[in-house]
Amino acid sequence: MHYIETKSLTKSFGDVIAVNDISFSVEKGEIFGFLGPNGAGKSTTMMIFTTLLKPTSGQALICGFDVMTNAKQVRQSIGYVQQETTVDEYLTGRENLLLQAKLNHIPKNEINNRIDEVLELIELSDKQHKSVVTYSGGMRKRLDIAGGLLHRPKVLILDEPTVGLDIQTRRKIWEYIKKIHDEFEMTIFLSTHYMEEADQLCDRIGIIDGGKIQVIDSPTNMKNAMGNEVISIVVENNEHHDSFLSELQKIKFVKKINKDGLKFVLFVSNGTEVIPKVFQISSELDIKITSISLTQPSLDDVFLSYTGHEIKDDDTKFNRRREHAKMKRLRA
Ligand SMILES: Nc1ncnc2c1ncn2[C@@H]1O[C@H](COP(=O)(O)OP(=O)(O)OP(=O)(O)O)[C@@H](O)[C@H]1O
Ligand SMILES: [Mg+2]
Repeated sequence: MHYIETKSLTKSFGDVIAVNDISFSVEKGEIFGFLGPNGAGKSTTMMIFTTLLKPTSGQALICGFDVMTNAKQVRQSIGYVQQETTVDEYLTGRENLLLQAKLNHIPKNEINNRIDEVLELIELSDKQHKSVVTYSGGMRKRLDIAGGLLHRPKVLILDEPTVGLDIQTRRKIWEYIKKIHDEFEMTIFLSTHYMEEADQLCDRIGIIDGGKIQVIDSPTNMKNAMGNEVISIVVENNEHHDSFLSELQKIKFVKKINKDGLKFVLFVSNGTEVIPKVFQISSELDIKITSISLTQPSLDDVFLSYTGHEIKDDDTKFNRRREHAKMKRLRA
């Protein structure tokens, strides 16, 4: 049995197709990540998994249960930590978890043990009686994650677990995610727009863009498929770009080229042979090269090669949305 399975899953909001005919599955014990930019359809997919949104068409199954016809079993099978933090600032850490435990109908005589267990796991035991107002962003996120573990779900869904956090805090959260995975043998489905996060945590990654999955594979396989080297060339403005591109494509060892404005990115299998040819072609076409570099492919390059554009951290948009969410909560 697949722990997560989608079959031609589609979700539209009016004219916007947020999730467009996606089919994939996640196996028991895997850490699977959706890597994609703002608006790719990550949260929408996750909200379908949690039964908070209904699919427009297609099917989603969690531990074999259909989100449409077995919503209750689905909710029992998953822990969900949403993108924006949901903890109540004016309660203590422990009080937040108590509330969460009651909402999840955890048997009364087990509540305290379960809370102790998750607090220990995310190393917040010593801060549990302090109100959350005094917590850092990373601690709030950890508390959020703890809340999603209380009912011991088979599948943990983490929507951008480290967005907006600094890199040290992000690394700490990665450690906790790995620990949860190892200690509970939990299947984890997460979303991110950080390459490094996907690379560090995930057994397999699905690159999602515009509601479509572009490719699914392990980070290592993805990078290997790119050829073993990347040549990035930036040129000065020149009307011969099209001929430049077509001549570059003819070079032996060039597997794929992406052009973005004045930048050409070549995925190659033998960089040191290709570079002299690049110079030869540019001089024949009278194109001035401003910079050229030879590197190992990164997940950024993989993303670029499948989507045709670079992934950008749009934290401005994120912060704006977060402010908006906060306002809504304050008004309510
Ligand atoms: N309730 C809604 N009503 C209308 N459109 C929506 C709604 N929710 C999402 N969308 C649209 O669906 C698309 C996918 O949004 P979604 O939130 O799933 O993206 P995401 O990958 O989670 O992005 P982010 O990285 O910004 O969180 C976007 O174009 C978004 O504007
Ligand atoms: Mg999202």
